[in-house]
Formats: sequence, C-alpha cells, structure tokens
Amino acid sequence: MSIPTLDATRSRLQGLGQEHLLHFAPTLGPSALRALLEQIAALPMEELSGMMRETESQSAQDLSALEPVPVVQRDGAGSASFRAAGEALVRAGKVAAFTVAGGQGTRLGWRGPKGTYPATIVTGKPLFRTFAEQLLATERRFGVRLPWYIMTSPLNDADTRAFFKDNNWFGRSPQDHFFLPQGLVPCIDAQGKAMLASPHEVATNPDGHGGAIRALDRSGALEDMARRGIEQISYFQVDNPLVRCVDPVFLGVHVAADHSSGQMSSKCVSKRNAAEKVGVLCRGPGAGGARTMVIEYSDLPKAAAERRDGSGELVFNAANIAVHVLSVAFAQRLAKGDGPRLPWHRAQKKVPFVDATTGKVVEPEKPNAFKFECFIFDALTLAERSLTMQVQRVEEFAPIKNAEGEDSPASSHRIQSDRHGAWLEAHGTQVPRRGDGSVDAKIEIGPLAAMEAADLRGRALPKAVQRGQELVI
Ligand code: UTP
Repeated sequence: MSIPTLDATRSRLQGLGQEHLLHFAPTLGPSALRALLEQIAALPMEELSGMMRETESQSAQDLSALEPVPVVQRDGAGSASFRAAGEALVRAGKVAAFTVAGGQGTRLGWRGPKGTYPATIVTGKPLFRTFAEQLLATERRFGVRLPWYIMTSPLNDADTRAFFKDNNWFGRSPQDHFFLPQGLVPCIDAQGKAMLASPHEVATNPDGHGGAIRALDRSGALEDMARRGIEQISYFQVDNPLVRCVDPVFLGVHVAADHSSGQMSSKCVSKRNAAEKVGVLCRGPGAGGARTMVIEYSDLPKAAAERRDGSGELVFNAANIAVHVLSVAFAQRLAKGDGPRLPWHRAQKKVPFVDATTGKVVEPEKPNAFKFECFIFDALTLAERSLTMQVQRVEEFAPIKNAEGEDSPASSHRIQSDRHGAWLEAHGTQVPRRGDGSVDAKIEIGPLAAMEAADLRGRALPKAVQRGQELVI
C-alpha cells in the first residue's frame, strides 16, 4: 500500500475535525512521520463520529420482556445422536477452529500474547499448546485436517506467529494455520477528538472480539474457509485452557437448529451465584421475533439476577462462556450484508496521551477517554436460528483473566485438577478430596492422552493418587 502524503492526510483529517493528530508532524524525522501517516491511513477515522453518535444514543435496553433461554443439556437425552451428527461434520472436513487472541490481557499482566501463558497445573503448558494438542488429537481420531484461524491484533501478531514457528506449529501442518490481525480503533476524548499516544502514534485499541467478523472477512479467511469446504466455525477465546476446541456434541446441537446449518449457537454454564460477574444468555424481543441475546451482568437489574423459579434455581442462570459455533454462511452475511452489523460499545478508560503544549506523555488519574469495541455475542440477536447448550463448568470452563483471585491461574489450576481427578475416579482411581469437595492433588491429563473421561478407558491408570501428589498423564 502506498502511504498518503502529509498534505493528503491533513486534508483528510481536516474534513473530520481530527487534524490535531498532525500537530507534531513538522518536528518528526522521516521514519517517525512515515509511521504516523501509515498508521492514520489504516485507521477508520471516517467512522469515529458515527461511533460516538451510535454509542451516545444507546438507550438502556428494555429488559422487562426478557425470558430465560431454553437450553439443551450436553449430557442429556439426544447427546449420542448430537455427537454422531457433529462427528460426521468433523470427519467430512467441514469444521474449522477459530481462536480470538487479539485482546490486550491487561488484567493478567503477562508480557507476551496471552496464548503463550503457561496455563496447565503441572507442566505449565502454554494455552496455544493445549489447543493445538486437542486439534492434533481430533485430527488423528477422525483422519482429517482441521484448519485453525487465530485472530491476533497488530500489537501481538508478530509475537504470536513467532511463537507458533518456534514451536514448529506444535506438530501440526503450518498450512493449517491462518493468522488474522484484527482492526484497531482510535481512542477518543470527551470532545470526540482522537488522541496521540506519542508525537508519532495515535492512541488505539483493538476493536473487540466482535472485530472478528470484519477481520475474518478482510483477511480473506472466510474465502479460505469456503475454498476448503468449511461450513462451521468453532469459536473460542484464548484464555480458557479447558475449552473443548472442537466439540462434536455441540456441533451436532448447533446443526440441529435446522437440520443442516445452524447460524450461531452458544455454550453456557450454570451461574455460580446471583452476583457472579458474567453475561447471561436470555431470550428477548429482537428485530424479526424473539432472539437469543447476552445481557451483561452490569445491565441485568439486581431483582432479575436474583429471581428464582419454583425449584429454587436462578431464572437467569445461563452464564455465557464465550464458546460459539457460527456457520460460515452466517459470518459471510454479517460481514458483507447490507443488513444490520454488530453495534459499537464504548467504555471510559484511562488512556495516556501527549500534551500538545509540552509534547510530554500524561498519565491520567481518572478515565479520560472512550474505547470502542464490538462484541461477538451481539451477533446472536442477528441470528434467526440459535441453540444454547449447557455444559458442566468443571468440564469446560477455567478461564485465566486476572493475576489473582477469581478467574486467575490459581483458580484455573484448581478446576483443572478437579476435572482430571473426576475423570480418574470415573475409572476407579481413588482421588483425595478436601472437605469442600475439591481435589487435593495436582492432576494434569493432556489432550493427547484424553479429551474427556471416556478416552481413558483401557489405559493403565493408578489405583490411587496421594494427597498433594503431582500427576501427569
Ligand atoms: P477479554 O474481554 O477478557 O479481554 O477478552 P482481554 O483483552 O483479553 O483482557 P483484559 O480485559 O485486557 O484484561 C476475551 C477474549 O477476547 C479476545 C481476547 O484475546 C480473549 O480471548 N479479544 C478481546 C480479542 O481477540 N480482541 C479484542 O479486541 C478483545
């Protein structure tokens, strides 16, 4: 791409009221100026005023008509036929894995891409390796190649690619990996002005996991999928080491939505308690009839969050764990269609910026900027066909988001051990448990050994695990 000149950039920005981004241009050396012009050329500057307007007028949703979403139990009746349908899809080469890994991971505070974080309880396997091993195991089981699409951001793309290369793509074919950097959007101050992070760099952030739709399209990934005959995309986040990357039962449930191709389906787990900070899958009125949707915990009124049914269960109990299947056709429609697209959301954040008079970077003490993002779950309200499958938390959800406390490496490790301890117990191994029921040992079962309890059948397993023992299978 040829880079627009300074004059051309200035006239573009003047028309948008953003020419202050060139304030320091006269003082910059050639390479810094080039970097700034290149960056601005790639940013969606024309969309900023629309994004401000769209998010200003986002009125509080009317939640009075919300209903709980009907759920299919993963372990319930029909599971075997769902599994068979999903396995047929995988075996026919119609499924791809898709990981969104473009987030900044600020809460965890890990310096590299989050997928490189050592996540497993005993061997400290990086998240990317745990997913790669699952894909490898699935490929071997079904005699198929599973393409893996990985959304990065311009901020971590090079490091992510290098990590895969350094690890020899974890034994999978390099051709079956497709890295797609998501878009960046400028951070904006209260007056709607984009901000400078340094004299030659606009302050930006990745455009959210909902940026996946745009990125899949612009990168050519959707075309690549179509070329390979892929029909369904198994979507998951980078931060959950227990995620089932390609789950035949879920795929079977998803396509059961209309016997050939569901549009977008979701997994949920039971909420831990009414106050758990997690989005909830519900049914509510949407354009064209009742739609599945995710209501964020901050938007769900306390009374609704605490409401219980006759059997004492929370009414809004379906916690979104950000595991979806989307059909390629649905993603194409969202990306290309003239119809509705994913809405923008904005959040107030502290964003360091350059003071125009001193040229120094100012670290704000309170939120001074809006960051804009799209959320993938907003696509649910655009799907006419969507199913929700409930899974057991201990089997599939142990996210690593924070350095400490909830959803931290420590909490994830405990859940990993609980899952693997239960798998061993299912085959007769004695596993020590604490008073609260949690497993009192560090047990890691790698995906190449087993992806679910049944895979351990016929293996030589220990008769008992000792309290505090570290065990790797
Ligand atoms: P989170 O919402 O947990 O955000 O992302 P994060 O950026 O990883 O972490 P914090 O908030 O800075 O601590 C959930 C998933 O969505 C991906 C993340 O990589 C993670 O897999 N994501 C998020 C993107 O791919 N792009 C984004 O712009 C945001």
